[in-house]
Amino acid sequence: MAEAKARQRGGYAEDVSTEQPVEGGLRFEVDGEIATITLDRPEKRNAQTFATWSALARIGESLPEQVRVVVVRGEGPSFSAGIDLRMFTPEGVPGQGSFSSAATLDGATFEQRIKQAQQGFLWLRRPEIVSIAAVQGHAIGAGFQLALACDLRIVADDVKFCMKEPALGLVPDLTGTKPLVELVGLAKAIDICLTARIVHADEAMRIGLAEQVVAGGDLEQAVQDKIAQLLSTNRDAATATKRLLQGARLRTLEEQSAAEGVEQAARIKALFG
Ligand code: CAA
Repeated sequence: MAEAKARQRGGYAEDVSTEQPVEGGLRFEVDGEIATITLDRPEKRNAQTFATWSALARIGESLPEQVRVVVVRGEGPSFSAGIDLRMFTPEGVPGQGSFSSAATLDGATFEQRIKQAQQGFLWLRRPEIVSIAAVQGHAIGAGFQLALACDLRIVADDVKFCMKEPALGLVPDLTGTKPLVELVGLAKAIDICLTARIVHADEAMRIGLAEQVVAGGDLEQAVQDKIAQLLSTNRDAATATKRLLQGARLRTLEEQSAAEGVEQAARIKALFG
């Protein structure tokens, strides 16, 4: 297992031994079984662009096999203030266009771009890893959805979740609607999204958006403690268990029981065969 610390910037993760120029406003670091993705544009409250999402997708594609836990965090006072507001201007984000330019594309082409962007979020649910969003301050729009893309959310007591898209005439399209409904239920998800109101830490904890709320200064330690707990279990058993848990909602009790049997038989064979 590679123990060497590998720092990568910009999500270009093929070369794990060198620092890459920042692209997409991300920093990426691998330390043994732990990978950390840092949104690293604090002066712009870690606003996200298409380059951010491509970079996230590239990290997912080339995540070193030994990684078991992926932490997603934001530098500075906010986790992420969502999509870069320059997208709403005629000039857009240099090299990445704007919503005005996107509106000239045919529907299928733009849908394809959204699908590509979503790849940056979807891999965080892989059974082989556990992803943890460490969230402080604002998590707005794409920022909220990035936190929702992770398996667990450990939040600072100043957290402010906000699904702002409907207030801007848009829908949340970065994979956030399904986990939101699954976590808080349909009525609460409608309440949160269609009012674009802020969900503070106490409510986030109460409705299941957050697993843990800590004082801001304790966020990093709380994440480290959770990582230690997660790494204390057997890697293959953890993967198989996550697979079971993820499939539970879609299966009947009988199907789920059968799936448990299949996974356990494989475990017993691997351990004692
Ligand atoms: N895009 C680009 N720049 C942003 C930004 C964003 N989303 N959010 C903040 N910034 C910039 C500000 O323009 C400011 O830059 P300058 O110093 O150059 O002026 C800097 O970050 C600091 O911002 P504030 O001074 O506003 O910081 P604050 O701490 O007082 O407020 C905030 C923080 C409440 C997050 C506020 O910045 C804000 O409301 N930002 C916009 C949030 C937003 O509407 N995001 C879009 C969500 S919808 C979405 O994400 C759509 C989607 O997925 C499709």
